[in-house]
Amino acid sequence: MTAAPSLLRRHGGGVSLVIDPRGAGRVLYWGPALPAITDGLWNAEPPATPDPGGAAPLVPLTGWGYGGLPALSGRWAGGGWAPRLAVTAVSGEGQALSLTLADPGGALSVVLDWELDADTGVLTGTAAVTNHGAEPYRLDGCAALCLPLPGWVDEALTFEGGYIREFQEHRQPIGPGALVRENRRGRTSHDSFPALVAGEAGFGAVHGSLFAVHLGWSGNHRLTLETLAAGTRVLMAGELLLPGEVVLAPGETYRTPPAYAVAADGGLNGLMARTHAHVRRRILPRVPLPERPVHLNTWEAVYHAHDPQGLGDLARAAAAVGVERFVLDDGWFHGRVNERHGLGDWWPDPSKHPGGLAPLAEAVRALGMRFALWVEPETVNPGSTLHTDHPDWLLRLPGDPDGRRQYVLDLGREAVADHLFARIDALLRSAPVDMLKWDMNRDLAGTGWQGEPAVRRQVAGVYRLIDRLRATHPHLEIESCASGGGRADWGILARCERIWVSDSMDAHDRLSMQRGFTLFFPPEVMGAHVGRGQSAVTGRRLELDFRCAVALFGHMGVEWDLRGINAEERDRLAAWIALHKRHRALLHGGRWVRLPLDDRAVTGHGVVAGDGGSALYLVAQQVTRPGIVTVRLPGLAPGAVYRVTVPEPSPCPLPWGRAGLRFTGAHLAAAGLRLPLGTPDEAVVLHLERCGGETS
Ligand code: DGJ
Repeated sequence: MTAAPSLLRRHGGGVSLVIDPRGAGRVLYWGPALPAITDGLWNAEPPATPDPGGAAPLVPLTGWGYGGLPALSGRWAGGGWAPRLAVTAVSGEGQALSLTLADPGGALSVVLDWELDADTGVLTGTAAVTNHGAEPYRLDGCAALCLPLPGWVDEALTFEGGYIREFQEHRQPIGPGALVRENRRGRTSHDSFPALVAGEAGFGAVHGSLFAVHLGWSGNHRLTLETLAAGTRVLMAGELLLPGEVVLAPGETYRTPPAYAVAADGGLNGLMARTHAHVRRRILPRVPLPERPVHLNTWEAVYHAHDPQGLGDLARAAAAVGVERFVLDDGWFHGRVNERHGLGDWWPDPSKHPGGLAPLAEAVRALGMRFALWVEPETVNPGSTLHTDHPDWLLRLPGDPDGRRQYVLDLGREAVADHLFARIDALLRSAPVDMLKWDMNRDLAGTGWQGEPAVRRQVAGVYRLIDRLRATHPHLEIESCASGGGRADWGILARCERIWVSDSMDAHDRLSMQRGFTLFFPPEVMGAHVGRGQSAVTGRRLELDFRCAVALFGHMGVEWDLRGINAEERDRLAAWIALHKRHRALLHGGRWVRLPLDDRAVTGHGVVAGDGGSALYLVAQQVTRPGIVTVRLPGLAPGAVYRVTVPEPSPCPLPWGRAGLRFTGAHLAAAGLRLPLGTPDEAVVLHLERCGGETS
């Protein structure tokens, strides 16, 4: 047995991290907290250098003879591409850890900055690459985090989807070779949300040990999970760099966006306990998030057809059902007759808003609501004043197609950023606007700056512009939207309070989107609107109760022309909004759980108060399946006795009626409730209140 090396350890939030810093360095352990560090951890394998492919060093590199995917790749202009980085310095107090790795020739260094959160157990990592050589170094890629996973991890969950079908979960077995998920669209994308979850086969809502990674970045990304020849698994996350996108001059440094790694027991509910806590405490720009007002968004009510009288009527109808914030969507600005015109000219169209936005905003405020405004600052329509005055402000390569007949503005250019700042700043001063719905309806694929790819430069420019606006208007809130949920990640979430999940209000489709979305986002940032009876995008007709029950659990809103609804619909919608408000603190502050339902016909989730004293659950039937559904309710205090009721206005399928029966938390988690659901489009909301027993 060799002498015990001096290991680096961090513990926090029920997670342990142990690193052997010798040679190239190696993560010996990352996972659920270890009571003690034993010899077995470091003695089982030889030191990390040189490594023939058995295990991954801290920064896996081809130069070490490592046979898997490298965490860093690049090339000096004068030749040289296979550095051998070894740990040269270690620092970091408390939960932080900083490791410097350098090439023996001294031409390249990588600094890994890691922090294991003491409360949430989430590990945040970035890498900074510096070119100390005499020649420019073209960096082709650098992972922000690279972590080994145990060999028993053999099932992966990734995300797929598309416009109006965001956040779809995809399961697959982990086999030999690499599982690679990339985004090259320049926005976070609808089809490849930047996260990967891996765990023991068959992991579910309440069982399984899991490992997950998320990249907090709103541009391109690359996530890999590779099985090495010796069976070891390696998880990596980083920004995807396009050819030539980063060329480091001598002395220059590239820093990756942050990657967040989560190790959790207790299945996906255990994972969400950590991700939601981390977002609430460490990611959101305001902690705690102020109470979320119920929205009405004008898009599906009026589209581009704005007129003061109609909008005033809509605002009055919104106030009558309990809406608290009126969001004026696309259509209000100069020349915006349809999506082919106007982008760039950010002042009110005099034919639609003759006195500017202030009269409408004041009328909205007089009705007791706040006023919010839609903008899409990053793009421009040909023919707008902005485009005519500054045709050279585009981020465009020759031949770049004009997707949705709009171009992307180069936010890396100071004059462009200053112009946009001045325009939006003026708008915010012209009327009492307390939130911007910040949209972006174009991929960046095919764009570029002076012939070079410029996604990274653009994302940094967007972040800078938002940061500057927020600093100037400290009370401003922002909703991130990109043709629905095309820009949802913790990078943008550090700058906004809400994410628009999808342009589909179809409540059936929303259920699966909400499932995927809530794996990395808590419900209070999840825009969830009650749409019209017949979905504007899928054409499906759904009952009001079903639509409301699905929207109830997020940041609730309405996306519907309320001027045309009848009194019965109005009263029912108002009752659902009142239910949301009554339980808002629980819905937006409790612990979100997914129901362990094997039956694909039924889906459900719930929110349990931090002290286990109350809970709300949703059980929704999605496919016809006559009979009784047994629904187990996780997350409750096992020894507590709960009264289970169905709150108004939720339909009540319970055989014993609305008044409620008493059950222990243990009974509900193990045996569950038997519900007579059967036809699709049926949903029931259950309210649980502790009325006795033990608190744990
Ligand atoms: C796409 C968004 O997702 C919609 O909610 C709406 O704001 C439209 N853009 C407006 O153009």
